[in-house]
Amino acid sequence: MDKSKITFSEVRTLYQAATTSMGEWMWHNHTQWVADKAKQLAEKYGADTEKVYCAALLHDLGDSRYERDHANFDTWSWETAKAILRNAEFRKHERDEILEAIRTHSCHPGHLPTALEGKVLATADGMRHLQTNFFPVICYMNRPDTSHTYEEWQRWFTAKIERDFGTKIFFADEKEEARADYEALKRVFENTALKARQSNKVLL
Ligand SMILES: [Fe+2]
Ligand SMILES: [Fe+2]
Repeated sequence: MDKSKITFSEVRTLYQAATTSMGEWMWHNHTQWVADKAKQLAEKYGADTEKVYCAALLHDLGDSRYERDHANFDTWSWETAKAILRNAEFRKHERDEILEAIRTHSCHPGHLPTALEGKVLATADGMRHLQTNFFPVICYMNRPDTSHTYEEWQRWFTAKIERDFGTKIFFADEKEEARADYEALKRVFENTALKARQSNKVLL
């Protein structure tokens, strides 16, 4: 079996056994979508397709085992990703490159990807957040234990959507492709219509 197939099958087994709030949903509605998009973008921009595809399959692995605020979330994700990459027989330097793409995929300040593979993964992830029903579903499920009030959720959303569109999408074509979805989400969740009605003192 090739490295991508081994990685896919190990990751699928973990998500299929998931008992977390997001695990199964992420596998069917996010992880595989990001992996397919990342593969297309790797081909388009000349990144290593196999590394990018496997990094994408592993990039949110923790959701298959723990809720995001669990103390073991990060260590388990990291150690399990490493073990899967070893089972797939990636060499040490290849594993390090894949792990670096995973580590930087969220594009938090000071942790931006510098290699093309990491930029491709971040772009695919940001695009899929904006172009699928990711945010409405997260909103519906209210990400248990990570946000308790709508205001908290909205602060999380605002920061995330700005990173998804502004920071994570590294390529001009893909930014244009996702722009309409970004603007629509921003308009809906920032609730400007309500603000306008309130400022005009119209009673609801
Ligand atoms: Fe993520
Ligand atoms: Fe993701």
